[in-house]
Amino acid sequence: MTGNAPTTEQVSSLLDDRDLVVVSNREPYSHEYEDGEVTVSRPAGGLTSALDPVMQSVGGTWIAWGSGDADHAVTDEDGRVGVPPESPAYTLRRVPLSDERVEGYYYGYSNQVLWPVCHLDTAKVNARDEFWQQYREANRAFADAVCGEAGDDPVVWFQDYHLALAPRFVKANRPDAFCMQFWHIPWPSRDVFRACPQYERLLEGLLGNDLVGVHTDAYCRNFLDCAAALPGATVDRATRSVVYDGHRTFVRPFPLGVDAEHHRDLARSDAASRFWREFGDRHGLADVAVALGVERLDYTKGIPERLAALERLWETRPAWRGELTYVQKASVSRGEIPAYQRLQERVRSEVERINDRFATDDWQPVVYVEDHLPQTGLAALYREADLCLVSALRDGMNLVAKEFIASQVQDPGVLVLSELTGASEELGEEALTIHPRDTHGFADAIERGLRLPSDDRGRRMCELQRQVHASDVYAWLDAQFRTVRAIRRGRQRATPPRGR
Ligand code: F6P
Repeated sequence: MTGNAPTTEQVSSLLDDRDLVVVSNREPYSHEYEDGEVTVSRPAGGLTSALDPVMQSVGGTWIAWGSGDADHAVTDEDGRVGVPPESPAYTLRRVPLSDERVEGYYYGYSNQVLWPVCHLDTAKVNARDEFWQQYREANRAFADAVCGEAGDDPVVWFQDYHLALAPRFVKANRPDAFCMQFWHIPWPSRDVFRACPQYERLLEGLLGNDLVGVHTDAYCRNFLDCAAALPGATVDRATRSVVYDGHRTFVRPFPLGVDAEHHRDLARSDAASRFWREFGDRHGLADVAVALGVERLDYTKGIPERLAALERLWETRPAWRGELTYVQKASVSRGEIPAYQRLQERVRSEVERINDRFATDDWQPVVYVEDHLPQTGLAALYREADLCLVSALRDGMNLVAKEFIASQVQDPGVLVLSELTGASEELGEEALTIHPRDTHGFADAIERGLRLPSDDRGRRMCELQRQVHASDVYAWLDAQFRTVRAIRRGRQRATPPRGR
């Protein structure tokens, strides 16, 4: 946590001293058995790493699926455990879900219906009836946990697409709760959203919230367009709100950021330097330019497209052979879903093929890492990279781009950024913008980034850093809680005094 983090008092004041309950599918810490011992791990992914520092500063309760095999061995009889384990700052309440429920709700509806639809890949949608049933039941289980945990007048903050139905379930039981939700992935246009067979039910669920947050203005407009087509809903574009079933939901863009100071400090740490010395030696990176990619193995991230651009570069501009090494840090993700399995195999085999094609006795074109890296190891890669390649085919925001920028504490590197990311709206001017499917243009941009004069790199990075520090995760939090306060105050003013 860093100096920008709000104090507990600041947040409590914005929330008028109401309890905060965060609800997400993924938990910030999971407990696993390893050789009979219980170990703690932090799942990869933007959501949990963005919100954990916030919760550490604010306190409260975080409700999430207990997905670790030792999770329920370390909780109390109500499923609660204090985290972070080394110095507990808030309560994690774990929701147990059966294998069948996880199969249908998480691997099924969330990640084979909502994920591809929101990322405009409707050909991947696999909408089985039982997925929807399990999604409903899991949303009920989360809603029941909220009702059990929340004190009077709570602020309940749902995260993401796994929990579209829970807000209405909670509101029905607890009308005193202020429900808000942040949708971390893109919100698509109405035509695309209708690829979800239950699109109207999903909207009804979300309109149980008092506030819905998305990353960008464009997603906000898309949401309002979808809501306008829901029978019984009235959209007011001036106030960006929707009235449905007698209840008003405000919709607002809040671009998510990272804990920029924390990333900068990690990049400056001795541990990062030690990691780099060892990693750089092992892979012969001392005398080459380094390009970096960091992501979960997800078909939305454009990894094969990036490898194609690199291959084009080494093929058509052989001077870069032996001069540029690409480091891909990849994390296996959602591995039970066939589309993800295919992607994993494709990435691994493409890496092997490209390495076979170009490697020499003393140079390997692609260094591919699936092993877990410590935070300082990742910070070292960000710090030392000359280029960071972000080539998502669609991405709600993309926090890797922002982590890279925050970690540039030495000779400034260059961000090559897909125009199809939410981050491109904020960072597109000073990054080198690419279309991930334009292999030729992408290869050109890589070369241009490698040749950019140092004053140009420095100027661009300075502006990007200003942006990433000004719009960090705490600014994101602050903007949302200020909006909560404004909505609540507006409602209080609009409520006629009792008895008149
Ligand atoms: O981008 C959506 C998201 O839910 C992120 O918030 C999170 O970082 C990532 O996907 C991780 O996915 P999962 O929880 O399925 O591993």
